[in-house]
Amino acid sequence: MRRLWAICLLLASAKALPTNQLNQSCRLTTDCSSAINLRHIQRLERYMRPELSPCEDFHAYACGNWRSVHAAGVSAMSLSGTRVDQRYVDLFERLLREPHAPEHRLPMHAKLLRYYQSCRALGKPRLRRYLEQLPHPASNHWTELMALLGRYGYHEHYVKIEVSQHNATRHMVVVQPHNYNHSLNLTTAIYGALRRHTHAQLPHLGQLRSQFGELDAKLQQLSRPTNGSSDEETLHFYTLGQLQRELPDLNWTHVLQLQLGATYTSGHQLLVDEPPVLKQLITYLNQADARLLQLYSWARFLQHLQKLPHNPLRHNHFTASASSSIGCVQHMRKTLYLPMNYAYEHNYYGKQREADERVIFGVFEELKSQFAQQLRRNEFGLDATLLPALLNKVYGLRLNVGNMPRNASEQFFVDCAQHWRVGSDFYENHLESLLHYYAHLAELERSMDASMRQLWYSFNHHGPELLDNIDATPYFYCLGSIIIMPYAYVQLPFYNAEFWPALLYGDLANTLGHEMLHAFDTYFVDYDAQGAMRDYSEQLLLNTHYVSAVNCLNDSEVIMLNERAADISGTRLALQTYMQQPAEKRNNGRLYFIQFAQFFCGEEADIYHDTGSKRLNYALAQMPEFAEVFQCDPGMPMNPVERCKFW
Ligand SMILES: *[C@@H]1O[C@H](CO)[C@@H](O)[C@H](O)[C@H]1NC(C)=O
Ligand SMILES: *[C@@H]1O[C@H](CO)[C@@H](O)[C@H](O)[C@H]1NC(C)=O
Ligand SMILES: *[C@@H]1O[C@H](CO)[C@@H](O)[C@H](O)[C@H]1NC(C)=O
Ligand SMILES: *[C@@H]1O[C@H](CO)[C@@H](O)[C@H](O)[C@H]1NC(C)=O
Ligand SMILES: *[C@@H]1O[C@H](CO)[C@@H](O)[C@H](O)[C@H]1NC(C)=O
Ligand SMILES: *[C@@H]1O[C@H](CO)[C@@H](O)[C@H](O)[C@H]1NC(C)=O
Ligand SMILES: *[C@@H]1O[C@H](CO)[C@@H](O)[C@H](O)[C@H]1NC(C)=O
Ligand SMILES: *[C@@H]1O[C@H](CO)[C@@H](O)[C@H](O)[C@H]1NC(C)=O
Ligand SMILES: [Zn+2]
Repeated sequence: MRRLWAICLLLASAKALPTNQLNQSCRLTTDCSSAINLRHIQRLERYMRPELSPCEDFHAYACGNWRSVHAAGVSAMSLSGTRVDQRYVDLFERLLREPHAPEHRLPMHAKLLRYYQSCRALGKPRLRRYLEQLPHPASNHWTELMALLGRYGYHEHYVKIEVSQHNATRHMVVVQPHNYNHSLNLTTAIYGALRRHTHAQLPHLGQLRSQFGELDAKLQQLSRPTNGSSDEETLHFYTLGQLQRELPDLNWTHVLQLQLGATYTSGHQLLVDEPPVLKQLITYLNQADARLLQLYSWARFLQHLQKLPHNPLRHNHFTASASSSIGCVQHMRKTLYLPMNYAYEHNYYGKQREADERVIFGVFEELKSQFAQQLRRNEFGLDATLLPALLNKVYGLRLNVGNMPRNASEQFFVDCAQHWRVGSDFYENHLESLLHYYAHLAELERSMDASMRQLWYSFNHHGPELLDNIDATPYFYCLGSIIIMPYAYVQLPFYNAEFWPALLYGDLANTLGHEMLHAFDTYFVDYDAQGAMRDYSEQLLLNTHYVSAVNCLNDSEVIMLNERAADISGTRLALQTYMQQPAEKRNNGRLYFIQFAQFFCGEEADIYHDTGSKRLNYALAQMPEFAEVFQCDPGMPMNPVERCKFW
């Protein structure tokens, strides 16, 4: 019976995606298992509705059955992410059962495990426990507590002092006014924590709410940008000495020392936003009620912690799922980014990295040289300075698979874990993990150690505040000029080192093409290969060919133009790289496009992207190769009479 089933399946599948003519070579790796490829093709067929016309609506044809297989909200990328989460759970649960497993001796695993246990043991939320862990400020001056909270990465109110990435090889200290877009919502949970922390010496909830409301309003009024400066670039380079002279009512050396843990010389460079606004704020805060400012800081800090992505305490009412094993892993992947990646690399990805890198970097280099060739043809007629600058961007693009520091030694991770403390209490552990992350950031900003710097700038050290939709899929990071390919991507259904060419290029080349072209989209084109802001788009906007190419992509008011640009040009680049021979197109074209569709099958719109169906159909309708492969008559939706070209 089973054999019969298998034969039936194969027969049924023969209709949708014939495999007999497929190119089964593997150029970039030594051996491609047919079983992996055939199983994957069967999977693709499950999602298809081959009775529909690919020329009318390719998404419906390729993905029409997706929703009958997967629940609402599930996409291929989210399934992949869940699988990665589950592997962490499996690892931690195994280590709990096996106290003598060798991993316990590795620099990160034992601490991760203790953290995991403390999270799993979490009961009803007790926000005040966070406050109990904080060191006592040396005085009740508003800057003291502000700087202490800054150590934990919290810096949204009063004066914002933050270390952030400036270009591909530099972080800088940035000083900005109070963020007037955020305010405090004094919930009963936060109020309760304050009351216990201050031993009940607190106004009533309603009273405190109105005092905080007035403070919020005053701070918002003071921190709005001054007239005429709203649209301009308002960050200026200052030395610490200059800042101290211009804004003498705050001891900057002291505040930086308190928050960042080092003494900065008066020649140290900073970026400062809106000094006049800062001045107003400081003057006001210096004479305001110090006790109220302190209470407000604690309350804002708690609100911030509660809202951090995947904090199990996010919800006021305790739910079992928040500190479930998956919930804890998701939280830890945010707050302990590097240690968690280390564990994944060690237990899962390390084995496949070498084979993967051969394949993935091979395709990446092919795409780069194809794109460089195309730029050199100079269809827009760019001038003799802009063209080489853009070519430099192509060559300078980097790729990091798994987002680990490149070639880091074991000692690097030992050093890295050294000052990271983990105990048995979740609140303490959470705060310590924040301290650890932000202390590293501060150290990086001032470190002179060249080899250290090279390692830290070879990946993107995600912080605890990063939102999910950014780190779950491959993305282009403009400041580092680097494409980050997360672990969730380097597995089925997107990729396998043994994929036949149509499957390999169908997603990998399109994904890399898309991210590469972000470096040349309407927003990010301005950053050079070192992540420094240039005026490239000003120059490009003087070019009529470029302008009409951009306008062609813009068919509505709400278009995400930079995503569309990356979709169109990335898809074209992948096609040009892969489908050079007519036989390849004829025999492998359908599978290539079906594989391409997988990423878009369950994708819903988000703040950056259109729905998967709109993106997929728009991009492929722009490719004449698609119409050729599926033999679409001219004028059909997937074979429009007029097409747009960008890069
Ligand atoms: C099969 O694909 C490989 C890799 O893309 C290519 O080099 C080769 O020419 C293709 N073979 C045929 C027969 O098309
Ligand atoms: C506040 O929000 C506006 C509108 O969204 C935005 O342009 C501005 O940059 C935000 N300001 C800050 C300090 O985040
Ligand atoms: C404040 O928080 C409460 C409890 O979480 C919530 O119900 C309410 O909508 C929030 N109010 C605002 C203005 O955000
Ligand atoms: C901005 O300019 C307007 C009109 O010139 C004036 O009424 C307003 O008070 C100014 N706001 C600030 C914050 O200076
Ligand atoms: C500012 O703080 C530093 C470090 O705490 C201290 O050495 C210095 O005396 C302070 N300066 C003033 C003017 O108070
Ligand atoms: C990492 O090490 C390998 C082998 O030692 C070397 O070929 C490669 O260039 C190194 N990569 C970087 C980015 O340093
Ligand atoms: C990065 O920024 C710093 C500070 O502006 C600058 O000195 C340095 O040259 C920049 N690096 C690159 C590679 O552009
Ligand atoms: C796209 O075109 C619309 C007019 O159709 C215009 O309002 C909008 O600003 C354009 N968008 C971009 C990003 O240029
Ligand atoms: Zn994109």
